[in-house]
Parts: sequence; C-alpha cells; structure tokens
Amino acid sequence: MGLLDGKVALITGGARGMGEAHVRLFLEEGAQVVFGDVLDDEGKALAEATGALFVHQDVTGPEDWQRAVGTTVETYGKLDILVNNAGILKFRRIADMTLDEYSRVLDVNLKGTWLGVKSVIEPMKAAGRGSIVNISSVEGFIGAEGMSAYAASKFGVRGVTKAAARELARFKIRVNSVHPGAINTSMVMDPEIAAEVDGEAFLKSMVIKRFAKPVEVSNVVAFLASDRASYCTGSEFTVDGGMLTGAGY
Ligand SMILES: NC(=O)c1ccc[n+]([C@@H]2O[C@H](COP(=O)([O-])OP(=O)(O)OC[C@H]3O[C@@H](n4cnc5c(N)ncnc54)[C@H](O)[C@@H]3O)[C@@H](O)[C@H]2O)c1
Repeated sequence: MGLLDGKVALITGGARGMGEAHVRLFLEEGAQVVFGDVLDDEGKALAEATGALFVHQDVTGPEDWQRAVGTTVETYGKLDILVNNAGILKFRRIADMTLDEYSRVLDVNLKGTWLGVKSVIEPMKAAGRGSIVNISSVEGFIGAEGMSAYAASKFGVRGVTKAAARELARFKIRVNSVHPGAINTSMVMDPEIAAEVDGEAFLKSMVIKRFAKPVEVSNVVAFLASDRASYCTGSEFTVDGGMLTGAGY
C-alpha cells in the first residue's frame, strides 16, 4: 500500500530537480500526479517516462493556475495535494541587483506560492480536506550575501504558510513549509554562485558533509502530503543536514 494511495496531487516546477523527484516519488506512493512547469520539453519527456500529466504553467500567472487546477480536477475528479515547489534563485548583491531582478524572484517564489494557495482552496474544500506543502529554504530562516531577494521570498513563503494554516484549518486543509539546505540540483550549480562561494569551506562547515539527493527532500514532502501528517499544520520542516543548528534553529 502506498502512502498516497487515492490522492490527487498538483506539483509546480516539476520538470526537473526536486520537483521531478517529487513527481516520481508521489507516483511510486500511489498518487495521481499532475505537474506544471515552464520547461515544456523536459515536462513532456518526464510525463512520457512516468505517466504523470504535464501542463504548461508559469506560477506567476493566475490564468495558468486556473488551467492547471482545472485540468487536474477535470482529469482526476478532485485535488487533494498541492506542492508549491517552483522557484528561482538570483545570486546578486543588493548594490548590483536591479529592481527587475529583485521583483522577478519575489514574483516566482512568493507571489507564485500565494497564488497556488489561493487557487486550490475551492477544490480542496470540495474534496473535504487537503494538504499544501510550500517549498521554502534554509534561506527562509537566515540571510546570506547575494541572497537578499531569494531570502526575502523564502521568509515570505514561511509567513504565507502560517497565515494560510490558520485560515484554512476550518476546511481541514493543512499547510506546512519545507526548508531544504544544500540539495544537488541545477539551482546550486549556478556559475555565479560557484564563482563567489568557497565550495570547500562550505562543505567543511556542514554537519552532514554532503549535498542531499532530491529524493531526500521528497520523502519529507510526501509525508506532509499524506494523512500520516494529520496533526501537522503551520509548521516548518528543515531538510538541511543540520545546517541551521549552528544558527540557533
Ligand atoms: N537546490 C537547493 O539546494 C535548494 C535549497 C533550498 C530550497 N530550494 C527550493 O527548492 C525548489 C526546487 O528547486 P530545485 O533545486 O529543484 O531547482 P531547479 O532549478 O532544478 O528546479 C526549479 C523548477 O522550477 C521551474 N520554474 C522556474 N520558474 C518557474 C515559473 N515561473 N513557473 C513554473 N515553474 C518554474 C524550473 O523550470 C524548474 O523546473 C525551489 O523552490 C528552490 O528555491 C532549493
């Protein structure tokens, strides 16, 4: 028996990286999976390889949300789970960052998450329950050089999560945030980060001294999405190999 048997899930930014790992694990655990992304070729290829359903979706657009949620409900009859995973990172110090660059990060990471929560309320109410998992970051707790926009967006995701948990508990909708640390995806291979960050010193500073595989985050996301997490809402779940322990969290 799978952890997510009988559930219908929508996962954003699912074409690669952690989103792809969530798609694959959710299918293994018995869910029907719809995933969105702006990367059409990667999305179609993953859909073909796995049997999940791909929809083109830019999380900053309300119409794209309507289409993604509509497709999910029309195809599978309901929507039980939303994973707000899509995100971007722009490494740039405040002095060098343009307002457009800053706004873009906030739009995708924070506005996209808020729109997601807003878009699934009615279908989850109709289903009689729901679970929303918002992907924040360790940058939702701490700031780092070059990360002002990213940290602002990920602190914001934590805030939206807590307010939504309070608003939606009456409809049996749980809302939690997941805070990955250093996960091995294209996001952390960014050449601008590689040029600025001392990789060896970073590894030495780690408690578990390695980057995580994406599925190590998916396991926590799947738990929160499932009925096993029935008393968890408004909470923060770090998957960071102990990174935040030194920061007092
Ligand atoms: N990799 C890490 O170490 C790390 C750490 C903490 C948090 N995160 C967060 O985890 C999530 C997944 O990141 P990842 O590491 O897999 O990176 P990734 O770049 O591999 O994946 C992000 C996905 O989001 C999609 N995306 C970007 N903009 C979009 C938009 N406007 N609409 C829809 N989809 C869009 C991308 O096309 C991509 O498929 C992100 O929210 C990221 O901020 C990553």
